[in-house]
Amino acid sequence: MSGDIRRIGVVGGGQMGAGVAEVCARAGLDTVVCEVDAVAARAARDRVAASLDRAVRRGKLEESAAQNALTRLVFTGDLEDLADRQLVVEAVVENPDAKTEVFAALDKIIEDPAAVLATNTSSLPVMRLGMATSRADRVVGLHFFNPVPVLPLVEVVTSLHTSADTAATVEDFAARVLGKTVIRSRDRAGFVVNALLIPYLLSAIRMAESGFATAAGIDTGMELGCAHPMGPLKLADLIGLDTVASIAESLYDEFREPLYAPPPLLQRMVEAGLLGRKTGRGFHTYDRG
Ligand SMILES: NC(=O)c1ccc[n+]([C@@H]2O[C@H](COP(=O)([O-])OP(=O)(O)OC[C@H]3O[C@@H](n4cnc5c(N)ncnc54)[C@H](O)[C@@H]3O)[C@@H](O)[C@H]2O)c1
Repeated sequence: MSGDIRRIGVVGGGQMGAGVAEVCARAGLDTVVCEVDAVAARAARDRVAASLDRAVRRGKLEESAAQNALTRLVFTGDLEDLADRQLVVEAVVENPDAKTEVFAALDKIIEDPAAVLATNTSSLPVMRLGMATSRADRVVGLHFFNPVPVLPLVEVVTSLHTSADTAATVEDFAARVLGKTVIRSRDRAGFVVNALLIPYLLSAIRMAESGFATAAGIDTGMELGCAHPMGPLKLADLIGLDTVASIAESLYDEFREPLYAPPPLLQRMVEAGLLGRKTGRGFHTYDRG
């Protein structure tokens, strides 16, 4: 079962891919992260190193454990370097074409027919990614939450083609090896958490868009009035407004419900490159240092 999984691949080293790689390396696993090119691979390494550093400064991790984790990580710009991996977690941008391309390529590259190919997608059908391969039974959703080293939840998403063995293997891996709490979801846009969360975030964006309240007022309202640790617009900034828009589009495509339709303000902000924390400005501004 999952105890035999020692060699992990992560495709995409952005916010989520870097986080997944970090928790795998911290769990003692040999982890290779593939980015689009060598420059992006170096940026992914810097992201993981900065996060490990933060964990040490906050007293959550020993300095030696952080150093050990870094030695278990390799960063590359070449997908072929994942050939011997037993579990690959895809965490590239939330775009169906980009993800389908990655799965088709992984299918050709990954040597072990028993390897598991997992996607961290927030909303796209796992089944379609499986169908881009010749091993849809080994393709599953493994949906982590941001920031991955901090948030304990993982959704395991089974498509109509995912085998019971694949689902059990990744569930056991996430729970026992990574120490996460797992909930299962069927392969429906948004799974459990985003199907509930995204309409709420979109409502907050519509409220700001209409001038009904300020971004700060909306966030303070939910933080102090409902004891949420973070208001909806800060949370949208943390997720990334491009990702929020993509998830909303997937939900809207699937259900055709107006509550899932991305508001014009969100689309304008994405077009303007105001993506939230990762670009330094979204509904709020951030120090990127
Ligand atoms: N941001 C969140 O809060 C969150 C939470 C859970 C799941 N997700 C999902 O995780 C995935 C990644 O989101 P993110 O927030 O990390 O995005 P991001 O924009 O921070 O990172 C995406 C990374 O993928 C890389 N990439 C793009 N195409 C690639 C390819 N072909 N090969 C290798 N790397 C490639 C990009 O260079 C970039 O670094 C998305 O599917 C998103 O829906 C995001």
